[in-house]
Amino acid sequence: MEKNKRLFIETYGCQMNVYDSEIVLSILANDGYAPCDSLDDADLILVNTCSIRDNAEQRVWGRLDCFLQEKKSRDVKVGVLGCMAERLRQELLSHPAVDIVAGPDTYRELPAMLRRLEESGESQINTTLSLKETYADIDPIRTDRNRVSTFISIMRGCNNMCTYCIVPYVRGGERSRDPKSIVREAERMYAAGYREVNLLGQNVDSYLWKNPDNMTETVDFAQLLELVALVAPDLRVRFSTSHPKDMGNGVLYSMAMYPNICTHIHLPVQSGSDRMLGKMNRKYTIAGYMDRIDKIREIVPDAAVTTDIIAGFCSETEEDHLATLELMRRVRFDSAFMFQYSERPGTKAARHFPDDVPHEVKTRRLNEIIELQSSISLERNRECIGGTYEVLIEGTSKRDSNSLFGRTSSNKVCVFPALGHRPGEYVNIKVESCTSATLLGNIVE
Ligand code: SAH
Ligand code: SF4
Ligand code: F3S
Repeated sequence: MEKNKRLFIETYGCQMNVYDSEIVLSILANDGYAPCDSLDDADLILVNTCSIRDNAEQRVWGRLDCFLQEKKSRDVKVGVLGCMAERLRQELLSHPAVDIVAGPDTYRELPAMLRRLEESGESQINTTLSLKETYADIDPIRTDRNRVSTFISIMRGCNNMCTYCIVPYVRGGERSRDPKSIVREAERMYAAGYREVNLLGQNVDSYLWKNPDNMTETVDFAQLLELVALVAPDLRVRFSTSHPKDMGNGVLYSMAMYPNICTHIHLPVQSGSDRMLGKMNRKYTIAGYMDRIDKIREIVPDAAVTTDIIAGFCSETEEDHLATLELMRRVRFDSAFMFQYSERPGTKAARHFPDDVPHEVKTRRLNEIIELQSSISLERNRECIGGTYEVLIEGTSKRDSNSLFGRTSSNKVCVFPALGHRPGEYVNIKVESCTSATLLGNIVE
């Protein structure tokens, strides 16, 4: 067994990658690698990568060049993990800095790969995808700073095949994790002092676990939410991502029934144009999406709704773009992640649809979308002024060491004077003012 080796891991991409890095830290800790906080101290540098857009990949290529400089001055090994490892395989291995390439379902093999690298000096690659791996039995080593809120992966992969998206290719088919292991992980987190868990999946609404010993015994996402909500009344439960084609009313009823299931739904719409949604293979229309929004507002009236939007997908016209702006005005999302379409090699869109919206048009449309959303976010936050909200304190404000920050159940960040309170506590905050991104207020009894 390797002894006293230090491991530095750098993570890009989504929350699932954050969780996966914590899984990797755990697997390698059992093999004698201790996590360290600085690249300079590391014997092994791992970079957990994202392929969702080209700029995510470009950043990693830049990092690999930095690691190469590092390798010139001392003995350090470099491994590339995650989605880009899965997508680019040999191409990554041929970068002179790279010793190991490991796809998202191969992390249990990392100790063996490192040993073979050590013994033979030869670089190692494994990008096999699995239809079973959920890392259910591995207890992640947490990397969050505040020890208040953390992630739990409930499923892996995706079966949806949105035409623009690389995820199904790099993460493989969808599989749901055993609910008992999810509940146990939530219980462990609660016992360790955490007060919020974020349940993660590419499409949580299609979570469906079947007992391998009795296929008639199943647990769906609405049931899983309840099981996790029952761990403790003061453990908040969040989840993402919901899919408009699959989000049933059951999830909304679970949310309405348990006060500790947070009133926030991330429901990516991608476009306001039915023609674009068809071309994206999203399998819902704007009418269907609006039906989901109406149900959310009926069953969980306080819920915040956030979304993802792509500007400039293949053949998008000005009319399609205006339909997106119109939809945003109709729904009035609390906030949104907004992107320019980035063609991903191998996806259906890359194979069949020309990436024909000029770059400057994409940029202009994206800017219009961002501008509209920030005015809507500001309006939404202003509606909170005068109201009192329960906030779970996460840490000290970056701007002011005498202030704390936390989130409302609806996932709005709130900053307020500390008055002796500490992370992990719940306080009631009366909102006095806001920006488009933050609520500002004071503690009330
Ligand atoms: N599973 C989630 C989202 C995963 S990726 C869902 O179905 O919504 C997060 C977001 O990245 C997507 O919602 C989409 O808005 C964006 N995205 C995915 N592929 C993209 C691409 N090729 N170009 C630009 N944005 C993309
Ligand atoms: Fe990508 Fe669509 Fe799957 Fe989301 S649901 S990960 S956008 S293929
Ligand atoms: Fe996540 Fe990026 Fe992979 S968004 S699933 S790390 S492609």
